[in-house]
Amino acid sequence: MQYPVYVFDAYGTLFDVHSAVGRLRARIGPQADRLSDLWRNKQLEYSWVRSLMGVYRNFEEITADALDFAASRCGGISPDLRADLLDAYRVLDAYVDVRPALEALRRKGAKTAVLSNGTPAMLADAVKAAGLADCLDAILSVDALRTYKTAPAVYQMACDHFGVGAQAISFQSSNNWDIAGAKRFGFRPVWINRTGQPAEYVDCAPAAVLKSLDGIATVVD
Ligand code: LAC
Repeated sequence: MQYPVYVFDAYGTLFDVHSAVGRLRARIGPQADRLSDLWRNKQLEYSWVRSLMGVYRNFEEITADALDFAASRCGGISPDLRADLLDAYRVLDAYVDVRPALEALRRKGAKTAVLSNGTPAMLADAVKAAGLADCLDAILSVDALRTYKTAPAVYQMACDHFGVGAQAISFQSSNNWDIAGAKRFGFRPVWINRTGQPAEYVDCAPAAVLKSLDGIATVVD
């Protein structure tokens, strides 16, 4: 079924969060993959814990906090490497299937948007670097609300922006926890399971599961 609005998570779904470490792998050494995994996991933990506490620090800040934790666990990194990793995180690689998917949806008359924990500046940099600005109708950041996914108010931002109900929105994320939040909110949740992860949150299951954004314009649920 075609939906009027397709909303996308950013980090992990449009942009490869491991591409920052990937580019600087030679300077990091054998702990590169461990560092990248720890960095991502701590960044997400900080978003959830801060939302529960009601104490906001923006995504740029918690991304740096998480890198510092991960680096300490991996034996430390130099200030130069820290700065270069954070710079690289601003201009992550987009997955190759992103642009064709967005273009296919736009050709069918659908609206497209990003809805992300990232700050407006981080998202603007990433979208610009990936050359995706011309195939997105909106870039929505939780920063306006000063809380993180999976707060229902975050998903409501997309409804408010497009002036539609939740049932009009197909929501794509590679993050299963984000899919659970979107399902609970009332979106059509499409899990982009890029890395072959097992199912989670079985009581908030996705409507469809894809390996990439290929075919998103024609997915049947
Ligand atoms: C985002 C993170 C959670 O873009 O992936 O919102």
